[in-house]
Amino acid sequence: MFPMARVFVTRRIPQSALDRLQAEATVDVWPEPLPPPYEELRRRVADCEGLLCLLTDRIDADLIAAAPRLRVISQMAVGYDNIDVAAATARGIPVGHTPGVLTETTADLTWALLLATARRLLDGVRSIEAGQWRTWDPLGLLGTDVHGATLGIVGLGRIGAAVARRAVGFGMCILYTGPREKPDVAAGVGATYVDFDTLLRESDIVSIHCPLTPETRHLFDARAFARMKPGAILINTARGGIVDHEALLEAVRSGHLGGAGLDVTEPEPLPADHPLMHQERVIVTPHIGSATVRTRTRMANMAVDNLLAGLRGERLPYCVNPEVYTKNGRG
Ligand code: DGY
Repeated sequence: MFPMARVFVTRRIPQSALDRLQAEATVDVWPEPLPPPYEELRRRVADCEGLLCLLTDRIDADLIAAAPRLRVISQMAVGYDNIDVAAATARGIPVGHTPGVLTETTADLTWALLLATARRLLDGVRSIEAGQWRTWDPLGLLGTDVHGATLGIVGLGRIGAAVARRAVGFGMCILYTGPREKPDVAAGVGATYVDFDTLLRESDIVSIHCPLTPETRHLFDARAFARMKPGAILINTARGGIVDHEALLEAVRSGHLGGAGLDVTEPEPLPADHPLMHQERVIVTPHIGSATVRTRTRMANMAVDNLLAGLRGERLPYCVNPEVYTKNGRG
């Protein structure tokens, strides 16, 4: 009998997925609630054939080089900006991710955040907790109307389109921007393609749904905020690095922006004493876009599907660097 392949899993994941993995591989699961420190991660992966990782793990070129037997990297997330994909590709290692299964769940959370921010739900709860609810106040806790407003979507991909579909029910005018027009998707929701500056200028609410890349890092900086409509609201459920948080803080503090809802920050977690955590009109949630029982279970199983395919030498069902197959003549 051949020995089973060794796999490192960087955190506890839903048990049904882990059981499937353990049936086919020798699995080392990091048992702590916090991610393994980088050096520990590197040490544990060093003699593994497979790695199942999360967006909290830095999978860089050094770590990949220090794992000579590594044959597959499977990320339990759709985003993979924490992985040096180029270094994996250079080694012929396929990298898997989990697109599609978290789309609707993340769009739901985006809407929860959007409504809560626009209608200042957290400010309301905080005011009750502070004993400030004394009467119905004609001028108290005034927010922004969502129905009939203009929604600007940055990145009309899977999640952006799911957010747009929900906006139709709120009678919103939908604008979108991105590297290219998506006429088919846009037609389904009546969205109009505009350039970035037009989207900033025209939108009452801007929602970010693009990946974090060198091009989108700090796409929302002081210049971008200055171009947004006075009173506009920013929602980010994509990646924290797309927003310059100091510039955002200034834009909200000055009263130029009407608020911000952030499910993602940079760093994560944002320090508890970071001013954004305590700023009126700002809601920060701890990266819970995909956090439902069903979706996390589906993500874990998809990550296991990718991992097992890689160990068997089969093509990953959801691969971010399919060029590894053509390069190596495996496809
Ligand atoms: C992802 O999958 O990239 C989300 O940020 C976490 O579900």
